[in-house]
Amino acid sequence: MLRFLREYIKTPNTIGAIAPSSRRLAAAMTDAIDFGRARCIVEYGAGTGVFTRQVAARKRPDTVYIVIEKNERFYEMLRRQFRGMPGVALVHGDAGDVCRFLNEQGFDHADYIISGLPFTSLPEQTSRRILVQTRKAIGEKGVFATFQYTLLRKKFLESYFCIQRIVRVWRNLPPAYVLQMRPECSRKGNPSARQPQGMNFPATMML
Ligand SMILES: C[S@@+](CC[C@H](N)C(=O)[O-])C[C@H]1O[C@@H](n2cnc3c(N)ncnc32)[C@H](O)[C@@H]1O
Repeated sequence: MLRFLREYIKTPNTIGAIAPSSRRLAAAMTDAIDFGRARCIVEYGAGTGVFTRQVAARKRPDTVYIVIEKNERFYEMLRRQFRGMPGVALVHGDAGDVCRFLNEQGFDHADYIISGLPFTSLPEQTSRRILVQTRKAIGEKGVFATFQYTLLRKKFLESYFCIQRIVRVWRNLPPAYVLQMRPECSRKGNPSARQPQGMNFPATMML
């Protein structure tokens, strides 16, 4: 907790939060994942590993999990926790290079990407680059989930993805929204447009 605050004071715009996310928020982010089917999962901005612990515990041993963290101290903390864990590839790098990291692990796309990145405070060009690469990285059928403290960036995210669900998580400091997105909206009349595969958590707000 204190380490998190310290890193926030050093680079507030890239850390974007004064404390790690709650386990309840981690549950909402990870419940979106169909662990039985996922071959490759990616996480951006893992911080101290709140989401990482849940995914690492629930993923199949043969699922590759690429965890990308830019901050050196957080990366070292992640290494201490997850180094040597089967299928977990820790990357000290930038989420904007996700396609390269996928290729290095032998994948051309990820089934799920979960993000802890603070799109509201990151420079716009940085966010745009990450979102363009993310769109490529999830291919046609992947799911991209991110949490945000406000919906200020909703329209911005919608210029890259189709938002399928927004879930409010009250038990987090501050309360957060989980946004679940796909590359394209399904055609009208298609029942799968209303209940996409692998979207398991209860929606408090359906779009
Ligand atoms: C709001 S914190 C979230 C940390 C953690 N996921 C959580 O929920 O507690 C944002 C994290 O994104 C990382 N980050 C910011 N920009 C990044 C980038 N371009 N690539 C990878 N990680 C980045 C920060 O270092 C920080 O760890």
